Amino acid sequence: MTVKDHYGLEYSGANPAALELFQAALDAYHRYAGAPFEQAKAVLKQNPGFVMAHVLKAYMTAIGSNPAIRGMAAAAVSAARDLPMNAREAGHVAAAEAMLAGEIRRAARILEDVAIAWPHDVLALQVGQTMDFLLGDSRMLRDRIGRARARWTPDMPGYHAVLGLHAFGLEETALYDRAEAAGREACALEPRNNWARHAVAHVLEMQDRRAEGVRFMRDDAAAWTPESFFLVHNWWHTALFHLGLDDIDAVLELYDGPVFGEPSSLAFDMVDASALLWRLRLRGVDVGGRWLALADAWSQHRLGHYAFEDVHAVMALVGAGRDADAEAAVAEIARAVEGAGDNAAFSRDVGLPVAEAMLAHGRGRHGRAVELLRDVRNRAGRFGGSHAQRDLLDLTLIDAARRAGETALHEALVAERRAAMPRAA
Ligand SMILES: [Fe+2]
Repeated sequence: MTVKDHYGLEYSGANPAALELFQAALDAYHRYAGAPFEQAKAVLKQNPGFVMAHVLKAYMTAIGSNPAIRGMAAAAVSAARDLPMNAREAGHVAAAEAMLAGEIRRAARILEDVAIAWPHDVLALQVGQTMDFLLGDSRMLRDRIGRARARWTPDMPGYHAVLGLHAFGLEETALYDRAEAAGREACALEPRNNWARHAVAHVLEMQDRRAEGVRFMRDDAAAWTPESFFLVHNWWHTALFHLGLDDIDAVLELYDGPVFGEPSSLAFDMVDASALLWRLRLRGVDVGGRWLALADAWSQHRLGHYAFEDVHAVMALVGAGRDADAEAAVAEIARAVEGAGDNAAFSRDVGLPVAEAMLAHGRGRHGRAVELLRDVRNRAGRFGGSHAQRDLLDLTLIDAARRAGETALHEALVAERRAAMPRAA
C-alpha cells in the first residue's frame, strides 16, 4: 500500500498510522532530538515493507566506523532492496548502498538528484548535507539546501529543519548574517532543533562572539537538550566559547560532564574530546589523566575508515604519550591511502600529512610540524569537518612555529588570524 505525506511524497509499504509514526521518527531525526531509530524499528515491526523506515535505519548506522553498527545498516539495506518501491525511494536505497561502500561522493550526488526532483524530501536534504560535511564541500552544504528552500514556506511543518540546514551551509560559506538569521528563526520555530542551534553556535564561534555564545547555549539549554543526540557536540561548542574567554575551569567542567564525563566509543564523540584536549594542550593546560582515558576509548576504533576521525585518534595517542601506538596509527592511515572508497583520497590529501604533523608536534619536532601543516592546511577542507573543527590545524601551526623559533612566521600567522576575523576591521 502507498500513502502520501503532507507534501505529497509517496511511501511504499505504508498505511496512515505507520506513516504518522514514521513522520514522528523523521521529525526527531531532523531536530537531532528524540528516538528516531527506535521509532523506525517500531514502524517496521508492524509494517516490514515500509521502505523508508529501512532507509532511515540505514542512514543512522551507515556512516560510522563501528563494524557492528555498520552491520545494522547493511541489514536494513538488504531488507529494503527487494521491496516494491518508487523512484524516490530507490534513490534513497542507492544512496544508502553507496554510503555503505564508502562512496560518499556518489551518495551525495544521488541525494542531490532526489532532492532536485522532490525538494520537500527533507531526509534527502539532511543526509545529503551530511555527505557534503564528510566531503568538506562548503558550497554544496549551502547550495543543496538553497535550491530547495525556494519551494518551502514558513507554514510548512518541516520548514524549521530546512532553515537549520541552510543556516549551517550559509555559515560554512561565511555568509554569517544570513546564517544567523536562518538559524535563529529555526530555533524560534522549533527550540529542540539542535542542528539550527549548532549553526548559530558556529556563527558565534567564527565571529569571536564568545560571551554571547555561552549565553546562547546555556540560557536555552532546557529547550534544546531534552533527548538530544547531538548533546556532546553542542556542549563541545559551548566549551570552545569558554576557552575563548580563557575560562579553563568551565572547559574542564564541560569535558568532565556532558562532553566526555561518560567515555563514549562513538568516533563522533571522541573526535570532540580529542579536539578539546588538544586545544588545551596547545594552551599548556595540564589535563591530568584525561588523555589516557581518551586514548583507551580510541583503542576500540577501527582506523582507515574515515581520515578525519583517524587524525583525532592519533592526537589522543600523542597526548597520552603512547608514541609507538601513534606511530602505528599513522602507518594505518598510510595504508588507507591504498584502500577503497573516498577515504583513500581523504587520507592521501589531508589525513596522512596532518597525522604526521600531530605526531611531529608531540615529539617536539616543531619545524617538521610547521612544514607539514603549512603545506596541507589550505586543502584541509578535503577531509571534511567544519571550519571550526579544522581551525585546530591553524592553532597547531601557530604553536609549532613559535616553538620552532620561526618568529617571523609566527607573527605573520597571528596577524593573519586577527585580520581574518570578521570584526577585525
Ligand atoms: Fe560544529
